[in-house]
Amino acid sequence: MTTHKHLFFLGAGAIAEAMIKGIVGAHVVSAEQIVVSNRRNGARLEELSGRYGVRVSRDRLAEIAEADAVVLAMKPFDVMQALREVRSALSERQLVVSVVAGVATEAIERQVEGARVPVIRAMPNTSSFVQESATAISRGRWATISHVEFVMTMFSALGSVTVVDEGLLDAVTGLSATGPAYFYYVVESLMRAGQELGLAEETCWELLVQTMYGAAKMLRETGKGPEELRRQVTSPNGTTMAGISVLEQGGFQDLLQRAVKRAAERAGEMGREVSGG
Ligand SMILES: NC(=O)c1ccc[n+]([C@@H]2O[C@H](COP(=O)([O-])OP(=O)(O)OC[C@H]3O[C@@H](n4cnc5c(N)ncnc54)[C@H](OP(=O)(O)O)[C@@H]3O)[C@@H](O)[C@H]2O)c1
Repeated sequence: MTTHKHLFFLGAGAIAEAMIKGIVGAHVVSAEQIVVSNRRNGARLEELSGRYGVRVSRDRLAEIAEADAVVLAMKPFDVMQALREVRSALSERQLVVSVVAGVATEAIERQVEGARVPVIRAMPNTSSFVQESATAISRGRWATISHVEFVMTMFSALGSVTVVDEGLLDAVTGLSATGPAYFYYVVESLMRAGQELGLAEETCWELLVQTMYGAAKMLRETGKGPEELRRQVTSPNGTTMAGISVLEQGGFQDLLQRAVKRAAERAGEMGREVSGG
């Protein structure tokens, strides 16, 4: 159902485009209700306008003042400067939705001091580009349940949405925001293994992509957990048992757990660098 909300995008890069594509495609809001802006790349704004029908910003502060939600979609090191430029136009009336990695809602609230601006932080992943993101969102101190519901509707157009406490967003970053890269890395390794065994690159690609997609679908649709599904295909002394035992000997599960923990830790470090904490 199309809502009547007006969205203002501060930042018009890759993630902004994925969001616009998903939101307009799913009719969450119509293209005319979206205004896009960036720092200096006017050609990029015209490109988005031509592709999706969104409006190019002409008078940023006036448009922000009229918007229902302002989406922060710039690199972490640009967000504080961007907020300083527009904070005079922000009030309690607008919702700020930030997809900026590592920047706490509290740091955003502090930049617009004086107004109790509701802020919601979202952590989508790169699969937003094909509307299959696993997005987690968390709310700042002034955001209400209805703000959460609206943001859930927005990000549902890009995949699944989970609400978590903000303290867990670094864990989310280590798990699902970094997650696609873990799977790409596994596919890279399996591609090499297949080729070493004599399969053509394209054959490996087709077999592996479909295998990964099918495994995800089994997990989603059978309601069975990963361990149970794995046990079902592991017969004594069979091929799965032979393969998995090599992974176990190499400490594969422990390595993955350490990777996720290190990525989560790094998310926290980066957040402190940006917020000056
Ligand atoms: N890409 C992903 O898959 C993904 C996933 C999750 C989260 N994120 C987060 O999303 C954010 C944006 O990532 P991205 O990949 O979309 O970056 P990007 O393609 O580099 O785009 C950044 C945009 O921010 C604009 N910008 C910078 N400073 C600005 C300012 N003061 N006012 C208005 N606009 C400003 C840039 O404008 P100019 O081009 O004119 O300089 C550009 O349009 C990052 O914080 C990232 O952590 C990205």
